[in-house]
Amino acid sequence: MSDKKNDNLDYETTGHSWDGIQEYNKPLPKWWLYTFYACIVWGIGYTIAYPAWPLVNSATAGVLGYSTRGEVAEEIARVEESNAAINEKLASVELTAIADDPELNTYAQNAGAAVFKTWCAQCHGAGANGAKGYPNLLDDDWLWGGSIEAIHTTITVGVRQPSDEDWVRQSQMPAFGRDELLEEEQITQVVNYVMTLSGGEPNDASLVEAGATVFADNCASCHGEDGGGDRAQGAPRLNDPITLYGDDYDTLMETVHNARYGVMPNWNERLSEAEIRAVATYVHGLGGGEASE
Ligand code: HEC
Ligand code: HEC
Repeated sequence: MSDKKNDNLDYETTGHSWDGIQEYNKPLPKWWLYTFYACIVWGIGYTIAYPAWPLVNSATAGVLGYSTRGEVAEEIARVEESNAAINEKLASVELTAIADDPELNTYAQNAGAAVFKTWCAQCHGAGANGAKGYPNLLDDDWLWGGSIEAIHTTITVGVRQPSDEDWVRQSQMPAFGRDELLEEEQITQVVNYVMTLSGGEPNDASLVEAGATVFADNCASCHGEDGGGDRAQGAPRLNDPITLYGDDYDTLMETVHNARYGVMPNWNERLSEAEIRAVATYVHGLGGGEASE
């Protein structure tokens, strides 16, 4: 085709031609070319200065010694340093003095909320309202005590964790059915009685009176004569509507047959004393906190 559009332009061509399509020989603009060279130089410089080339297990470190990991570590160290003084104070004052010091209290509440989100929420719920077997920490119903000291101890040693000191948060309700400590009939009786303790309706009212006797003989030593519970052994209060596992007939049968064994980790090996006190202050401030004796 001779009337090709470009025939009259005075550009040089490379002489290549494919199906009549010709290739111009146009130089790159100078500004583009120099930018391109500058990028290459900068790129080489960058790989020398910063971590870049992959090695077998790592990468070249770069002469500036920069790493994102190092940057995070520095940031953490800086925050820790700026909090060192207040953490030391938090870890050393009387537990009851924390609430009286507005600055310390605010710091502990905030730090404690962060600890709670990281370490406690998976069991006790993000809002600390608990779940079956995991106590609600918002109410004033406590298994082991709701003073700042009691909460601090519970968090420090956990619940039913191996310990050299056997007084710490250890106890075990007997499995009355599984270990055949009570007859099936007695279990049915006592369960019906327990249902009335919190003001509920029993399954079978005719069994309640016999159940009261079974309770007095087998349960009162831990749960109290009136079912008021015993914090020294973490035996729940049974004469209120708040329950850990549930108070319908089937759940109570299950509890008395097989008992329960609620376990909470001890945090003294994972958290610092300041962190434990911060989260204890936070939990104490959630609404159910009790005054110290
Ligand atoms: C692995 C699950 C788990 C985690 C994680 C956990 N807890 Fe617990 N916590 C429990 C269980 C289960 C109990 C009840 C133990 C019992 O039956 O006596 C409990 C009991 C408690 C109690 C006693 C409540 C009462 O009524 O006396 C407090 C206070 C408490 N936890 C605070 C915390 C704090 C603070 C954290 C985070 C540092 C935490 N827990 C993390 C499972 C957990
Ligand atoms: C040696 C002490 C002990 C004795 C005796 C005992 N309990 Fe318990 N009981 C406990 C403890 C401790 C718990 C809490 C278990 C846990 O947190 O895992 C508990 C939990 C319970 C619960 C669950 C409460 C809830 O809030 O969900 C019920 C119900 C109960 N016991 C009923 C009884 C009855 C009925 C008897 C007598 C037949 C009895 N217990 C005898 C220590 C005892």
